[in-house]
Amino acid sequence: MNDLTDALNRHYAPQDVSARILESIRAAGLDPDRLSRDEASMFDEFHGGGRESTRALARDIGLAPGTRVLDVGCGIGGPARTLTAEFGCAVTGVDLTADFIHAARMLSLRVGMGETINFLEGSALALPVADAAFDLVWSQNMLMNIPDKAQFAREVARVLKPGGRCAIESVVSGTGEVLYPSFWASEPALSFVPSPEALREAFAATGMVADLWQDNTARVLAHGQRRMAALERGEGPPLGIGVLVPDRVMEKTRNALLNNEQGRTLAIQAVWRKPA
Ligand SMILES: C[S@@+](CC[C@H](N)C(=O)[O-])C[C@H]1O[C@@H](n2cnc3c(N)ncnc32)[C@H](O)[C@@H]1O
Repeated sequence: MNDLTDALNRHYAPQDVSARILESIRAAGLDPDRLSRDEASMFDEFHGGGRESTRALARDIGLAPGTRVLDVGCGIGGPARTLTAEFGCAVTGVDLTADFIHAARMLSLRVGMGETINFLEGSALALPVADAAFDLVWSQNMLMNIPDKAQFAREVARVLKPGGRCAIESVVSGTGEVLYPSFWASEPALSFVPSPEALREAFAATGMVADLWQDNTARVLAHGQRRMAALERGEGPPLGIGVLVPDRVMEKTRNALLNNEQGRTLAIQAVWRKPA
């Protein structure tokens, strides 16, 4: 493991993630063996906007049943399960945090999706999959942990079939310093928030063509405001993002709101196409 991989594993999985999830499900009065995907969605989509953002992007790109999707930085697998169950896709998930991959497999089994999704431990910068194997690379809120966007874009182009697309959701820089701790980095050393220009350049350098660039900040803000209001009332949902983020969740939620409200960051959704 290199230093950044090691640090990100500690950031995202400071405790045994699967044990914590199971404990939280029981504490919420639910049976982990009868968990529904809706109940899991309270914590398993780890990006601003939650499951609504995932659905919106999938709809906006006209995601069709049977699409072979590689979800890069798949976390504990919530978005991969949404794309499989609601859009009929065949999804492989890759993540750098070993404990998240373990939890992704465990949760898929608990919600009755058994072996439908292939979850692999690995890096976005050296994807553990064959060339030209996917119709769509999908990635939500992972790019802020990637120092070398150009290498990420090259890997995307390598694993896509000709004519395939890459759909991402990311925090990008606005004006002013980003406030930490954030959900993706407790301190600036783990954070590599791209500028819109740097992101566009990284993809353009591979020969991929821009298809879509849309501002998703309003949806992310509305979702964050609901989450913050519940935390402040001290009545966060029994299964909330705190299940996944045991450390300083209130501060991270507040900073996410401030970063977006003050224009320090924007939330974007974007799509590139590999020429046929
Ligand atoms: C904020 S979470 C988003 C998880 C998931 N995409 C979701 O929306 O639920 C960021 C994820 O990116 C993963 N990640 C960070 N750097 C990575 C890398 N180089 N390769 C693969 N995954 C990475 C982290 O382990 C973490 O699971």
